Amino acid sequence: MVEEILGKKHRGEKIVMLTAYDHPTARIVDEAGIDLLLVGDSLGNVVYGLERTTQVSKEMMLRHVQAVCRAAKKTPVIADMPFDTYQVDRPNAVFHARDFMYAGCAGVKIEWFKQCLTVVDDLRAASIPVMGHIGLTPQTAEAMKVKGRGEEEAKAILSQARALEAAGCFAVVLECVPDGLAAEITQSLNIPTIGIGAGPHCDGQVLVVSDMLGLNDRAPRFVRRYADLGAQTLAAIKNYKADVESGVFPGPEQTFR
Ligand code: KIV
Repeated sequence: MVEEILGKKHRGEKIVMLTAYDHPTARIVDEAGIDLLLVGDSLGNVVYGLERTTQVSKEMMLRHVQAVCRAAKKTPVIADMPFDTYQVDRPNAVFHARDFMYAGCAGVKIEWFKQCLTVVDDLRAASIPVMGHIGLTPQTAEAMKVKGRGEEEAKAILSQARALEAAGCFAVVLECVPDGLAAEITQSLNIPTIGIGAGPHCDGQVLVVSDMLGLNDRAPRFVRRYADLGAQTLAAIKNYKADVESGVFPGPEQTFR
């Protein structure tokens, strides 16, 4: 997986990553030929309606990772390490990451925090492929806003990207950073950058699948909606309700004689 992804950067081919949290969605993503499937801890917001991703437990993540891995026949699956498994229980990060690898993942993703380079070192020493995540890091962010607009913050994000590459990450997610900074980081790294709200100059892009399918009421400005499944689902359910109430469903085709 790692060689494939690095090869794409070096050949100038874009990398396409998408989240999935369940078996049917992962099966479709797999069929579409997406490069990387992310079981993001955004599942806390998207699937469980939680306020913060820090409320996502390892047990929750593992159940969804298993369902996704059973469906992903070709696409490598990356799991977000839940906050508790590496920012709180840092000494046991390798033990926790191994459980995601045993479940079928090709690697794990961790967000930047003060001691994250130690975690990357430990994971790499255990031969676990690691994707970094910088810019807006939802597990520790105080506000969901663009990062790296000021010179100091931009410099810090660039040096985090370089440090993650030096520590052995195979790719880095840039979330909500200005396009110029994303371009500079992308040019200065040998590993790919995967952007979300980071403009068009990254080596790849990632979106939350329910945002791009129009299943959530509101989505961030950087999302492009490729479908309106929320409205379609509502219409389908209303049709079903009307058919049952009027006696049209089930019809002869749905009835055993
Ligand atoms: O949790 C997630 O879905 C993510 C992506 C937004 C990159 O980290």
